[in-house]
Amino acid sequence: MNRPFVESCEQNRDVIHQVIQPYLKPGIEVLEIASGTGQHAVYFADLNPQIRWQTSDRAEYLPGIQSWLTFTKLQNLIDPILLDVCLKWPSQQYDLIFTANSLHIMDDAEARACINGTAQCLEPSGFFIAYGPFNYNGGFTSESNRRFEDWLKLNNPKSGIKHFEVLNEIAEQSGLKLYADITMPANNRILIWQLETLPDN
Ligand SMILES: C[S@@+](CC[C@H](N)C(=O)[O-])C[C@H]1O[C@@H](n2cnc3c(N)ncnc32)[C@H](O)[C@@H]1O
Repeated sequence: MNRPFVESCEQNRDVIHQVIQPYLKPGIEVLEIASGTGQHAVYFADLNPQIRWQTSDRAEYLPGIQSWLTFTKLQNLIDPILLDVCLKWPSQQYDLIFTANSLHIMDDAEARACINGTAQCLEPSGFFIAYGPFNYNGGFTSESNRRFEDWLKLNNPKSGIKHFEVLNEIAEQSGLKLYADITMPANNRILIWQLETLPDN
């Protein structure tokens, strides 16, 4: 099959990598939720051969991701697993969970399930890194994000850009503490949460 390709991944992969690279410590296990085409996974795994990058997505995306893995033959890129955030999560724990451009595609229940599932799947002190557009203080951060929202709703009325404050409350209830909130080009952000560890008794 032809390898799936989206231009946006080519455009944002370097700026995302600049932010996430310090978190990609040698030896860590990364789970990517919603790998999509697999382009981000290939790029980040290739630049960081000392980490292991587990791809995942819903069933219809898995053959496309697999086609990239077969093509690149990267030893540290793991065959995609089926992961719908509302269904069964891996039994393995990961040091870092990454997702790009997925929370606004999900409906509210899916976004909640994504955060709750992530918290369950992270090693203590592990990081959850989410890239994409987010709303703040009850509104859009730009006119282009407002137009993007209209376009999203045409495809799926239940999808939409999520409010940072709502996501952060869900995250806190799951034991995730906001670690960083970084402005990115094109009205996007990178949100980084860290799983809090309970103090020893
Ligand atoms: C716009 S694509 C982003 C893909 C890729 N991460 C990127 O940045 O190009 C949205 C992704 O969210 C995934 N997605 C939507 N709902 C999901 C769910 N309930 N569980 C897991 N993935 C989901 C889709 O399958 C798709 O891969």
